[in-house]
Amino acid sequence: MRITGTGHASMRIDTAAGSILCDPWVNPAYFASWFPFPDNSLLDWETLGDVDYLYVSHLHRDHFDAEHLKHFISKKATVLLPEYPTSQLEDELRDLGFTSFLKTRSNEVHELDGGLRVMIQALTSPTDGPIGDSSLWVEHDGIRLLNQNDARPSDLSRFNELGHVHAHLLQFSGAIWYPMVYELPESAKTAFGKQKRDRQFDRTWRYIDDLQADHVFPIAGPPSFLDDSLWQFNDIFGDEGNIFPDQSVFMTEYAKVGGTNGIVLLPGSVTSLTNDGSASTEHPTDVDEFFAHKREHLEEMRTRKAPIIEAEKASWRHPEIDVLGEMKKRIEPLLEESIYLAKGVGGPVRFDLTDSFGPDGEIIESIVVDFPGKQVRPYADEKVRYRFKTGRALVEHLIHIGEGDWVNSLFLSCRFSAARIGQYNEFVYAFFKCLSEERLQYAEGWYDEHERTVEAEDTQLGDWTVQRRCPHLKADLSRFGVIDGNTLTCQLHGWKFDLPSGKCLTSAGHQLRAEKKTA
Ligand code: FES
Repeated sequence: MRITGTGHASMRIDTAAGSILCDPWVNPAYFASWFPFPDNSLLDWETLGDVDYLYVSHLHRDHFDAEHLKHFISKKATVLLPEYPTSQLEDELRDLGFTSFLKTRSNEVHELDGGLRVMIQALTSPTDGPIGDSSLWVEHDGIRLLNQNDARPSDLSRFNELGHVHAHLLQFSGAIWYPMVYELPESAKTAFGKQKRDRQFDRTWRYIDDLQADHVFPIAGPPSFLDDSLWQFNDIFGDEGNIFPDQSVFMTEYAKVGGTNGIVLLPGSVTSLTNDGSASTEHPTDVDEFFAHKREHLEEMRTRKAPIIEAEKASWRHPEIDVLGEMKKRIEPLLEESIYLAKGVGGPVRFDLTDSFGPDGEIIESIVVDFPGKQVRPYADEKVRYRFKTGRALVEHLIHIGEGDWVNSLFLSCRFSAARIGQYNEFVYAFFKCLSEERLQYAEGWYDEHERTVEAEDTQLGDWTVQRRCPHLKADLSRFGVIDGNTLTCQLHGWKFDLPSGKCLTSAGHQLRAEKKTA
């Protein structure tokens, strides 16, 4: 089996029974904020795209690059489709010209021609990716690979059951806007960022430890930020609160916890795996040398890609759009139908729209999405649960293209600032991910089912008996739970719980059952 690094979360897997291209991403994503790093645009995509199978793990735009799929990936490829509750991924791929689909069943092994075996595990909660994220397991000739990319299964037991894994490819870096966009003092941002950075690594070590693969490949990030207004997000300033550590930092941190089996893939690196557990890798250039000159590489990309960013920016403004009127038209019917999400948000959310392409500049319009009142209306000088500040042009563009997922577009762009009263509220982001009937209905149904499930099983953690499954997304707390004093942290997403009261300290709701052992 051969793995060719093709940038970010993308790779091509070659076996004697066929080839699989995963998540090819080349064009900038999220309002031209994210670019693959190291740059992969100069690879021979005509050749790489001539494959037997295509796997797109989910619809996040750094995994699903419509332009690139359209122009460079063979339409003869059979799509290995995760089992998602909505048909959006399949629909979008069909629109691009793909006609051959293998609709996999989650957690079931599928036998393909020539002894190639694949399994896709689909995660389907409203908080997983853009309603759906997945991992691909591949076996051929006794060699097994898990491309976990940025999926966060509660454990890896299903993959472990299928036999020893030789190559484990997984995310280790950040892919979110927190805490950078929050309007907080710099010192608080650094402290929160540092916690987040540590948590990302802890989670990665946990997964690596679970699977015990022969070789570990850090993939799926970080992106690079080439626009001037986002440049500070690149991890080149020695900021310990930066959540975007790169592959070379991964190798350093991994060595500190005893890891000796890490392999970094640059775009164009090729690793050959054999079933005796050995791997040999050829790189297009020296990896250490490459990362030692990271800043220069980024500067060069910044200059080269500037015209692309400018061209994208020129397409965003649609001043003729009545933003308030259009938001009313689209969002009010959804508020009317929403039970769990609206209740979960529990207060008004304000959008301050500026005359620039981000949070800087003059506020020219303030709109409130009033969840309790089920209304979209002008801001009326009230207290709000969350406030977002962004360019009016960005919202104009979302309305213009009929975007149904503002997380997978506006929020991931990091071209906004945010403030909130109280805890993080997952329902705010879940709602703005679901600006279509199909998505909203699915999310409401999911929460309905989730809320009704009683978590009966307990586990013992130190002096405490706690429910076995995390109230967030059901991680097994006997593996992911860590107790420090009276606080339990679930390391899967870092949520914290106060043990004496059971209260979730990270988000509203999500009560934990916990009891202290008496002597
Ligand atoms: S499952 Fe997300 S924090 Fe526990």
